[in-house]
Amino acid sequence: MRRISIVRAHCRPLQFYRARRCLPAQFRALSGNNRMTDSPSPSPLQSLRNKHILLGITGGIAAYKSPDLVRRMRDLGADVRVVMSRGACEFITPLTLQAVSGNRVHSELLDADAEAAMGHIELARWADAVVVAPATADFLARAAAGRADDLLGTLLAASDAPLLLAPAMNQAMWRDAATQANVGQLVARGVQLAGPDSGDQACGDTGAGRMREPHAIAQAVAELFANKMLSGRHVLITAGPTREAIDPVRYLSNHSSGKMGFALADAALEAGASVTLVCGPVALASNPRVQRVDVESAEQMLEAVLADIDSADLFIGAAAVADFRVAKNSAQKIKKQHGQTGMTLELVQNPDIIATVAKRAAKPMVVGFAAETEQLLKHARAKLERKGLDMIVANDVSRADIGFGADANEAVLLSRDQEIELGKCSKGQLARHLIKLFAQQLKPAG
Ligand SMILES: Cc1cc2nc3c(=O)[nH]c(=O)nc-3n(C[C@H](O)[C@H](O)[C@H](O)COP(=O)(O)O)c2cc1C
Repeated sequence: MRRISIVRAHCRPLQFYRARRCLPAQFRALSGNNRMTDSPSPSPLQSLRNKHILLGITGGIAAYKSPDLVRRMRDLGADVRVVMSRGACEFITPLTLQAVSGNRVHSELLDADAEAAMGHIELARWADAVVVAPATADFLARAAAGRADDLLGTLLAASDAPLLLAPAMNQAMWRDAATQANVGQLVARGVQLAGPDSGDQACGDTGAGRMREPHAIAQAVAELFANKMLSGRHVLITAGPTREAIDPVRYLSNHSSGKMGFALADAALEAGASVTLVCGPVALASNPRVQRVDVESAEQMLEAVLADIDSADLFIGAAAVADFRVAKNSAQKIKKQHGQTGMTLELVQNPDIIATVAKRAAKPMVVGFAAETEQLLKHARAKLERKGLDMIVANDVSRADIGFGADANEAVLLSRDQEIELGKCSKGQLARHLIKLFAQQLKPAG
Protein backbone atom coordinates (compact mmCIF):
# COMPACT_ATOMS: atom_id res chain seq x y z
CA MET A 1 0.00 0.00 0.00
CA ARG A 2 1.27 3.47 -0.89
CA ARG A 3 1.13 5.90 2.01
CA ILE A 4 1.32 9.55 1.03
CA SER A 5 1.59 12.13 3.73
CA ILE A 6 0.51 15.67 3.15
CA VAL A 7 0.48 16.47 6.82
CA ARG A 8 1.02 20.18 7.21
CA ALA A 9 -0.27 22.72 9.60
CA HIS A 10 -1.86 24.27 6.53
CA CYS A 11 -3.03 22.02 3.76
CA ARG A 12 -2.59 23.75 0.44
CA PRO A 13 -4.57 22.97 -2.68
CA LEU A 14 -2.03 21.29 -4.95
CA GLN A 15 -3.06 23.12 -8.08
CA PHE A 16 -2.17 26.42 -6.48
CA TYR A 17 1.11 25.09 -5.19
CA ARG A 18 2.00 24.23 -8.72
CA ALA A 19 0.59 27.39 -10.16
CA ARG A 20 2.89 29.53 -8.06
CA ARG A 21 6.01 27.69 -8.95
CA CYS A 22 5.65 26.14 -12.37
CA LEU A 23 3.63 28.48 -14.57
CA PRO A 24 5.61 29.13 -17.73
CA ALA A 25 6.71 32.73 -17.67
CA GLN A 26 5.50 33.40 -21.19
CA PHE A 27 1.96 32.46 -20.15
CA ARG A 28 1.61 35.73 -18.29
CA ALA A 29 2.56 38.89 -20.11
CA LEU A 30 4.60 41.50 -18.32
CA SER A 31 2.29 44.35 -19.15
CA GLY A 32 -1.35 44.99 -19.70
CA ASN A 33 -1.98 42.29 -22.26
CA ASN A 34 -2.83 39.24 -20.23
CA ARG A 35 -6.22 37.59 -20.23
CA MET A 36 -8.34 40.25 -18.65
CA THR A 37 -10.19 42.99 -20.44
CA ASP A 38 -11.44 46.26 -19.14
CA SER A 39 -15.00 45.72 -20.24
CA PRO A 40 -17.23 44.27 -17.52
CA SER A 41 -16.75 40.57 -18.26
CA PRO A 42 -19.56 38.11 -17.56
CA SER A 43 -18.60 37.15 -14.04
CA PRO A 44 -19.55 33.68 -12.87
CA LEU A 45 -22.23 34.09 -10.19
CA GLN A 46 -20.74 34.23 -6.71
CA SER A 47 -17.46 32.83 -7.92
CA LEU A 48 -15.65 34.07 -4.81
CA ARG A 49 -18.24 32.61 -2.51
CA ASN A 50 -16.72 31.65 0.87
CA LYS A 51 -13.24 32.56 -0.33
CA HIS A 52 -10.84 34.28 2.04
CA ILE A 53 -9.08 37.06 0.16
CA LEU A 54 -6.18 38.93 1.70
CA LEU A 55 -5.86 42.28 -0.03
CA GLY A 56 -2.54 44.09 0.28
CA ILE A 57 -2.58 47.82 -0.49
CA THR A 58 0.69 49.66 -1.08
CA GLY A 59 1.49 53.35 -1.36
CA GLY A 60 0.44 54.43 -4.82
CA ILE A 61 -2.06 56.99 -5.99
CA ALA A 62 -4.36 54.20 -7.23
CA ALA A 63 -5.00 53.20 -3.60
CA TYR A 64 -8.12 55.35 -3.83
CA LYS A 65 -9.61 52.56 -5.99
CA SER A 66 -8.96 49.84 -3.40
CA PRO A 67 -12.26 50.30 -1.49
CA ASP A 68 -14.08 49.69 -4.76
CA LEU A 69 -12.05 46.51 -5.26
CA VAL A 70 -12.98 45.34 -1.76
CA ARG A 71 -16.64 45.97 -2.54
CA ARG A 72 -16.43 44.10 -5.87
CA MET A 73 -14.83 41.07 -4.25
CA ARG A 74 -17.39 41.08 -1.45
CA ASP A 75 -20.15 41.30 -4.06
CA LEU A 76 -18.74 38.07 -5.53
CA GLY A 77 -19.04 36.45 -2.11
CA ALA A 78 -15.53 36.85 -0.68
CA ASP A 79 -14.55 37.55 2.89
CA VAL A 80 -11.87 40.24 2.51
CA ARG A 81 -9.17 41.23 5.00
CA VAL A 82 -6.97 44.19 4.23
CA VAL A 83 -3.28 44.68 4.95
CA MET A 84 -1.87 48.14 4.25
CA SER A 85 1.73 49.23 3.92
CA ARG A 86 2.73 52.36 5.82
CA GLY A 87 2.86 54.15 2.48
CA ALA A 88 -0.68 53.10 1.67
CA CYS A 89 -1.93 54.68 4.91
CA GLU A 90 -0.73 58.04 3.56
CA PHE A 91 -3.05 57.70 0.56
CA ILE A 92 -6.18 56.26 2.12
CA THR A 93 -7.23 55.64 5.69
CA PRO A 94 -7.42 52.20 7.30
CA LEU A 95 -10.80 53.31 8.66
CA THR A 96 -12.24 53.47 5.14
CA LEU A 97 -10.96 49.98 4.37
CA GLN A 98 -12.25 48.68 7.68
CA ALA A 99 -15.69 50.08 6.89
CA VAL A 100 -15.89 48.56 3.39
CA SER A 101 -14.33 45.21 4.30
CA GLY A 102 -16.18 44.78 7.58
CA ASN A 103 -12.93 43.56 9.12
CA ARG A 104 -10.18 45.13 11.15
CA VAL A 105 -7.35 46.40 8.92
CA HIS A 106 -3.83 45.17 9.57
CA SER A 107 -0.80 47.36 8.96
CA GLU A 108 1.92 46.78 11.55
CA LEU A 109 4.08 43.70 11.87
CA LEU A 110 5.20 44.31 15.42
CA ASP A 111 1.78 44.98 16.91
CA ALA A 112 1.10 42.93 20.03
CA ASP A 113 -2.69 43.56 19.95
CA ALA A 114 -3.04 42.53 16.31
CA GLU A 115 -0.85 39.46 16.91
CA ALA A 116 -3.09 38.42 19.79
CA ALA A 117 -6.26 38.85 17.66
CA MET A 118 -5.07 37.20 14.44
CA GLY A 119 -1.32 36.69 14.21
CA HIS A 120 0.56 37.16 10.95
CA ILE A 121 1.06 33.44 10.36
CA GLU A 122 -2.60 32.77 11.10
CA LEU A 123 -3.55 35.51 8.65
CA ALA A 124 -1.28 33.98 6.01
CA ARG A 125 -2.92 30.59 6.52
CA TRP A 126 -6.39 32.11 6.50
CA ALA A 127 -5.97 33.38 2.93
CA ASP A 128 -7.21 31.36 -0.02
CA ALA A 129 -5.60 33.98 -2.28
CA VAL A 130 -3.47 37.07 -1.76
CA VAL A 131 -4.02 40.12 -3.97
CA VAL A 132 -1.91 43.26 -3.91
CA ALA A 133 -3.59 46.25 -5.55
CA PRO A 134 -2.10 48.68 -6.14
CA ALA A 135 1.36 47.11 -6.16
CA THR A 136 4.02 49.83 -6.18
CA ALA A 137 7.42 49.58 -7.86
CA ASP A 138 8.96 49.50 -4.41
CA PHE A 139 6.70 46.65 -3.31
CA LEU A 140 7.52 44.66 -6.49
CA ALA A 141 11.23 45.04 -5.67
CA ARG A 142 10.67 43.89 -2.10
CA ALA A 143 8.50 40.96 -3.18
CA ALA A 144 11.01 39.85 -5.81
CA ALA A 145 13.75 39.92 -3.18
CA GLY A 146 11.56 38.00 -0.69
CA ARG A 147 11.87 40.74 1.93
CA ALA A 148 9.87 40.16 5.10
CA ASP A 149 10.52 43.42 6.92
CA ASP A 150 6.91 44.59 6.99
CA LEU A 151 3.58 42.85 7.54
CA LEU A 152 2.70 42.38 3.87
CA GLY A 153 6.13 40.98 2.98
CA THR A 154 5.98 38.60 5.92
CA LEU A 155 2.52 37.41 4.90
CA LEU A 156 3.65 36.75 1.33
CA ALA A 157 6.56 34.71 2.59
CA ALA A 158 4.36 32.73 4.97
CA SER A 159 1.48 32.07 2.60
CA ASP A 160 1.13 29.25 0.11
CA ALA A 161 -1.94 30.82 -1.44
CA PRO A 162 -1.86 32.02 -5.04
CA LEU A 163 -0.68 35.59 -5.44
CA LEU A 164 -2.12 38.14 -7.85
CA LEU A 165 -0.52 41.56 -8.28
CA ALA A 166 -2.02 44.66 -9.86
CA PRO A 167 0.94 46.97 -10.51
CA ALA A 168 0.26 50.70 -10.68
CA MET A 169 2.87 53.37 -11.29
CA ASN A 170 4.13 56.04 -13.61
CA GLN A 171 4.86 54.69 -17.10
CA ALA A 172 8.60 55.37 -16.84
CA MET A 173 8.75 53.54 -13.50
CA TRP A 174 6.97 50.59 -15.10
CA ARG A 175 9.33 50.54 -18.09
CA ASP A 176 12.37 50.83 -15.83
CA ALA A 177 14.72 47.87 -16.28
CA ALA A 178 14.85 47.12 -12.54
CA THR A 179 11.02 47.02 -12.29
CA GLN A 180 10.80 44.77 -15.34
CA ALA A 181 13.45 42.44 -13.92
CA ASN A 182 11.56 42.25 -10.61
CA VAL A 183 8.29 41.52 -12.38
CA GLY A 184 10.02 38.91 -14.54
CA GLN A 185 11.28 37.12 -11.44
CA LEU A 186 7.86 37.16 -9.81
CA VAL A 187 6.13 35.86 -12.93
CA ALA A 188 8.71 33.11 -13.30
CA ARG A 189 7.72 32.00 -9.78
CA GLY A 190 4.11 31.70 -10.84
CA VAL A 191 2.85 34.99 -9.48
CA GLN A 192 -0.01 36.27 -11.62
CA LEU A 193 -0.46 39.80 -12.87
CA ALA A 194 -3.59 41.83 -13.48
CA GLY A 195 -2.45 44.72 -15.63
CA PRO A 196 -1.17 47.29 -15.64
CA ASP A 197 -3.25 48.99 -18.30
CA SER A 198 -2.23 51.76 -20.65
CA GLY A 199 -3.73 55.22 -20.77
CA ASP A 200 -3.67 58.61 -19.15
CA GLN A 201 -1.95 58.72 -15.78
CA ALA A 202 -2.51 60.85 -12.67
CA CYS A 203 0.89 62.49 -13.20
CA GLY A 204 -0.10 63.67 -16.69
CA ASP A 205 1.92 61.02 -18.61
CA THR A 206 0.36 58.54 -21.00
CA GLY A 207 1.47 54.89 -21.21
CA ALA A 208 1.45 51.52 -19.44
CA GLY A 209 1.22 51.72 -15.67
CA ARG A 210 -2.42 52.44 -14.80
CA MET A 211 -3.93 50.05 -12.29
CA ARG A 212 -6.45 47.72 -13.86
CA GLU A 213 -10.02 48.63 -12.99
CA PRO A 214 -11.40 47.05 -9.78
CA HIS A 215 -14.13 44.99 -11.49
CA ALA A 216 -11.51 43.39 -13.77
CA ILE A 217 -9.16 42.68 -10.86
CA ALA A 218 -12.03 41.08 -8.92
CA GLN A 219 -12.76 38.92 -11.95
CA ALA A 220 -9.08 37.94 -12.20
CA VAL A 221 -9.19 36.89 -8.54
CA ALA A 222 -12.25 34.75 -9.25
CA GLU A 223 -10.42 33.15 -12.17
CA LEU A 224 -7.68 31.99 -9.80
CA PHE A 225 -10.20 29.50 -8.47
CA ALA A 226 -11.79 28.54 -11.74
CA ASN A 227 -9.99 25.32 -12.55
CA LYS A 228 -11.97 23.10 -14.86
CA MET A 229 -10.94 19.57 -13.87
CA LEU A 230 -14.58 18.47 -13.75
CA SER A 231 -15.86 20.34 -16.75
CA GLY A 232 -18.79 18.47 -18.29
CA ARG A 233 -19.03 16.13 -15.28
CA HIS A 234 -22.00 15.72 -12.98
CA VAL A 235 -21.33 15.37 -9.26
CA LEU A 236 -23.99 14.20 -6.81
CA ILE A 237 -23.31 14.95 -3.16
CA THR A 238 -25.23 14.18 0.02
CA ALA A 239 -24.72 16.42 3.05
CA GLY A 240 -25.91 17.05 6.57
CA PRO A 241 -27.80 14.80 8.97
CA THR A 242 -31.05 12.96 8.44
CA ARG A 243 -34.00 13.28 10.78
CA GLU A 244 -35.98 10.20 11.67
CA ALA A 245 -39.35 11.15 13.09
CA ILE A 246 -40.54 9.65 16.36
CA ASP A 247 -43.76 11.65 16.35
CA PRO A 248 -44.73 15.05 14.86
CA VAL A 249 -42.49 16.95 17.31
CA ARG A 250 -39.57 14.63 18.05
CA TYR A 251 -36.91 12.97 15.98
CA LEU A 252 -33.64 11.02 16.01
CA SER A 253 -30.72 12.80 14.37
CA ASN A 254 -27.02 13.62 14.78
CA HIS A 255 -24.64 16.57 14.99
CA SER A 256 -23.71 16.83 11.32
CA SER A 257 -23.74 20.50 10.20
CA GLY A 258 -23.44 19.79 6.47
CA LYS A 259 -20.43 22.11 6.16
CA MET A 260 -18.14 19.51 4.58
CA GLY A 261 -20.70 18.47 1.97
CA PHE A 262 -21.48 22.08 1.11
CA ALA A 263 -17.76 22.86 0.79
CA LEU A 264 -17.42 19.89 -1.56
CA ALA A 265 -20.33 21.18 -3.64
CA ASP A 266 -18.61 24.58 -3.95
CA ALA A 267 -15.28 22.98 -4.86
CA ALA A 268 -16.91 20.74 -7.49
CA LEU A 269 -18.65 23.79 -8.98
CA GLU A 270 -15.35 25.64 -9.07
CA ALA A 271 -13.84 22.67 -10.88
CA GLY A 272 -16.49 23.06 -13.59
CA ALA A 273 -18.93 20.28 -12.61
CA SER A 274 -22.69 20.50 -12.52
CA VAL A 275 -23.63 19.67 -8.95
CA THR A 276 -26.66 18.20 -7.24
CA LEU A 277 -26.64 18.52 -3.47
CA VAL A 278 -29.10 16.36 -1.57
CA CYS A 279 -29.13 17.64 1.97
CA GLY A 280 -30.78 16.86 5.23
CA PRO A 281 -31.96 19.67 7.53
CA VAL A 282 -29.07 22.18 7.75
CA ALA A 283 -28.78 25.89 8.38
CA LEU A 284 -26.58 26.59 5.35
CA ALA A 285 -27.14 28.51 2.14
CA SER A 286 -25.99 26.86 -1.06
CA ASN A 287 -24.57 28.42 -4.18
CA PRO A 288 -27.44 29.27 -6.56
CA ARG A 289 -25.71 27.23 -9.28
CA VAL A 290 -26.06 24.09 -7.17
CA GLN A 291 -29.14 21.98 -7.79
CA ARG A 292 -30.29 21.59 -4.19
CA VAL A 293 -32.74 18.98 -2.97
CA ASP A 294 -33.82 19.28 0.67
CA VAL A 295 -34.90 16.13 2.44
CA GLU A 296 -35.52 15.00 6.01
CA SER A 297 -35.22 11.25 6.40
CA ALA A 298 -32.81 8.62 5.11
CA GLU A 299 -35.57 7.12 2.95
CA GLN A 300 -36.24 10.51 1.33
CA MET A 301 -32.51 10.99 0.82
CA LEU A 302 -32.23 7.64 -0.93
CA GLU A 303 -35.16 8.51 -3.19
CA ALA A 304 -33.59 11.86 -4.16
CA VAL A 305 -30.22 10.21 -4.81
CA LEU A 306 -31.73 7.51 -7.01
CA ALA A 307 -33.60 10.16 -9.00
CA ASP A 308 -30.30 11.75 -9.99
CA ILE A 309 -27.80 8.91 -9.94
CA ASP A 310 -27.98 7.87 -13.61
CA SER A 311 -26.38 11.07 -14.81
CA ALA A 312 -23.73 11.22 -12.07
CA ASP A 313 -20.03 10.68 -12.80
CA LEU A 314 -19.10 11.02 -9.15
CA PHE A 315 -21.17 10.31 -6.05
CA ILE A 316 -19.93 11.69 -2.74
CA GLY A 317 -21.80 10.48 0.32
CA ALA A 318 -20.89 13.13 2.89
CA ALA A 319 -24.22 13.01 4.73
CA ALA A 320 -24.40 11.49 8.20
CA VAL A 321 -27.32 9.19 7.45
CA ALA A 322 -29.09 7.66 10.45
CA ASP A 323 -28.52 3.91 10.48
CA PHE A 324 -31.89 3.31 12.11
CA ARG A 325 -35.35 4.82 12.16
CA VAL A 326 -38.29 4.31 14.45
CA ALA A 327 -40.26 1.24 13.40
CA LYS A 328 -43.60 2.97 13.78
CA ASN A 329 -43.65 6.71 14.11
CA SER A 330 -46.66 8.06 15.86
CA ALA A 331 -49.13 10.31 13.98
CA GLN A 332 -49.82 12.19 17.22
CA LYS A 333 -47.46 13.54 19.84
CA ILE A 334 -46.61 10.74 22.26
CA LYS A 335 -47.82 11.73 25.73
CA LYS A 336 -46.08 10.75 28.92
CA GLN A 337 -48.35 8.46 30.89
CA HIS A 338 -48.92 8.98 34.59
CA GLY A 339 -46.25 7.07 36.51
CA GLN A 340 -44.28 6.21 33.39
CA THR A 341 -40.56 5.86 34.19
CA GLY A 342 -39.16 4.65 30.89
CA MET A 343 -39.87 4.16 27.24
CA THR A 344 -38.65 1.77 24.60
CA LEU A 345 -38.42 2.77 20.96
CA GLU A 346 -38.23 -0.03 18.46
CA LEU A 347 -35.83 0.84 15.65
CA VAL A 348 -35.44 -0.71 12.22
CA GLN A 349 -32.55 -0.41 9.84
CA ASN A 350 -32.52 2.41 7.30
CA PRO A 351 -31.53 1.82 3.69
CA ASP A 352 -27.76 2.08 3.19
CA ILE A 353 -27.62 4.83 0.59
CA ILE A 354 -23.98 4.62 -0.37
CA ALA A 355 -23.94 0.82 -0.51
CA THR A 356 -27.07 0.93 -2.70
CA VAL A 357 -25.28 3.27 -5.12
CA ALA A 358 -22.07 1.23 -5.06
CA LYS A 359 -23.99 -1.99 -5.88
CA ARG A 360 -25.54 -0.61 -9.07
CA ALA A 361 -24.41 -2.15 -12.32
CA ALA A 362 -23.82 1.21 -14.00
CA LYS A 363 -22.41 3.14 -11.08
CA PRO A 364 -20.49 6.39 -10.85
CA MET A 365 -17.24 6.66 -8.94
CA VAL A 366 -18.36 6.34 -5.30
CA VAL A 367 -16.70 8.15 -2.41
CA GLY A 368 -17.83 7.79 1.18
CA PHE A 369 -17.03 9.45 4.47
CA ALA A 370 -16.18 7.63 7.68
CA ALA A 371 -16.85 9.73 10.76
CA GLU A 372 -15.20 7.76 13.53
CA THR A 373 -14.37 8.31 17.19
CA GLU A 374 -11.78 5.51 17.54
CA GLN A 375 -9.61 3.25 15.37
CA LEU A 376 -10.16 5.65 12.50
CA LEU A 377 -8.25 3.90 9.73
CA LYS A 378 -9.31 0.38 10.68
CA HIS A 379 -13.02 1.28 10.69
CA ALA A 380 -12.72 3.37 7.54
CA ARG A 381 -10.94 0.65 5.56
CA ALA A 382 -13.50 -1.94 6.70
CA LYS A 383 -16.30 0.37 5.48
CA LEU A 384 -14.54 0.95 2.15
CA GLU A 385 -14.34 -2.78 1.53
CA ARG A 386 -17.70 -3.81 3.00
CA LYS A 387 -19.61 -1.27 0.92
CA GLY A 388 -17.56 -1.59 -2.28
CA LEU A 389 -16.52 2.09 -2.39
CA ASP A 390 -13.82 3.54 -4.60
CA MET A 391 -12.52 5.90 -1.93
CA ILE A 392 -13.32 6.89 1.62
CA VAL A 393 -12.49 10.03 3.58
CA ALA A 394 -11.80 9.18 7.20
CA ASN A 395 -12.10 11.83 9.86
CA ASP A 396 -12.07 11.79 13.63
CA VAL A 397 -15.28 13.36 14.91
CA SER A 398 -14.35 12.96 18.56
CA ARG A 399 -12.09 16.04 18.32
CA ALA A 400 -13.79 19.38 18.99
CA ASP A 401 -11.47 21.33 16.64
CA ILE A 402 -12.38 19.29 13.56
CA GLY A 403 -15.37 17.29 12.42
CA PHE A 404 -19.03 18.03 13.21
CA GLY A 405 -19.84 21.72 13.21
CA ALA A 406 -16.21 22.88 13.09
CA ASP A 407 -14.85 25.03 10.26
CA ALA A 408 -11.68 22.96 10.04
CA ASN A 409 -11.11 19.33 9.25
CA GLU A 410 -8.29 16.85 9.02
CA ALA A 411 -8.68 13.64 7.09
CA VAL A 412 -7.11 10.59 5.54
CA LEU A 413 -8.25 9.61 2.06
CA LEU A 414 -8.21 5.85 1.59
CA SER A 415 -8.51 3.84 -1.58
CA ARG A 416 -7.75 0.17 -2.11
CA ASP A 417 -4.02 0.80 -2.45
CA GLN A 418 -3.39 4.28 -1.07
CA GLU A 419 -3.60 6.29 2.09
CA ILE A 420 -3.28 10.04 1.66
CA GLU A 421 -3.04 12.05 4.86
CA LEU A 422 -4.46 15.54 4.55
CA GLY A 423 -3.33 17.88 7.30
CA LYS A 424 -5.63 20.16 9.26
CA CYS A 425 -7.06 22.99 7.20
CA SER A 426 -10.38 24.72 6.56
CA LYS A 427 -13.20 22.59 5.18
CA GLY A 428 -13.10 24.72 2.02
CA GLN A 429 -9.43 24.02 1.46
CA LEU A 430 -9.85 20.33 2.25
CA ALA A 431 -12.79 20.15 -0.17
CA ARG A 432 -10.76 21.66 -3.03
CA HIS A 433 -7.93 19.27 -2.30
CA LEU A 434 -10.26 16.26 -2.21
CA ILE A 435 -12.06 17.25 -5.40
CA LYS A 436 -8.72 17.40 -7.19
CA LEU A 437 -7.79 13.94 -5.92
CA PHE A 438 -11.23 12.53 -6.91
CA ALA A 439 -10.96 14.12 -10.37
CA GLN A 440 -7.60 12.43 -10.91
CA GLN A 441 -9.25 9.04 -10.30
CA LEU A 442 -12.32 9.59 -12.49
CA LYS A 443 -12.52 7.45 -15.58
CA PRO A 444 -12.48 9.47 -18.82
CA ALA A 445 -15.97 10.60 -19.78
CA GLY A 446 -17.66 8.65 -22.46
C1 LIG B 1 2.13 61.44 -4.35
C2 LIG B 1 2.83 60.14 -4.55
C3 LIG B 1 2.30 59.21 -5.39
C4 LIG B 1 2.95 58.00 -5.61
N1 LIG B 1 2.40 57.10 -6.46
C5 LIG B 1 3.05 55.94 -6.71
C6 LIG B 1 2.52 55.01 -7.61
O1 LIG B 1 1.45 55.21 -8.19
N2 LIG B 1 3.21 53.87 -7.83
C7 LIG B 1 4.39 53.61 -7.22
O2 LIG B 1 4.98 52.55 -7.49
N3 LIG B 1 4.91 54.47 -6.33
C8 LIG B 1 4.28 55.63 -6.07
N4 LIG B 1 4.82 56.51 -5.17
C9 LIG B 1 6.06 56.14 -4.47
C10 LIG B 1 5.77 55.17 -3.31
O3 LIG B 1 4.84 55.77 -2.41
C11 LIG B 1 7.08 54.83 -2.60
O4 LIG B 1 7.91 54.10 -3.50
C12 LIG B 1 6.86 54.04 -1.33
O5 LIG B 1 8.15 53.65 -0.85
C13 LIG B 1 6.02 52.82 -1.57
O6 LIG B 1 5.98 52.09 -0.34
P1 LIG B 1 5.03 50.84 -0.16
O7 LIG B 1 5.18 50.00 -1.37
O8 LIG B 1 5.56 50.19 1.09
O9 LIG B 1 3.67 51.35 0.06
C14 LIG B 1 4.18 57.73 -4.94
C15 LIG B 1 4.69 58.65 -4.07
C16 LIG B 1 4.04 59.87 -3.88
C17 LIG B 1 4.64 60.88 -2.95
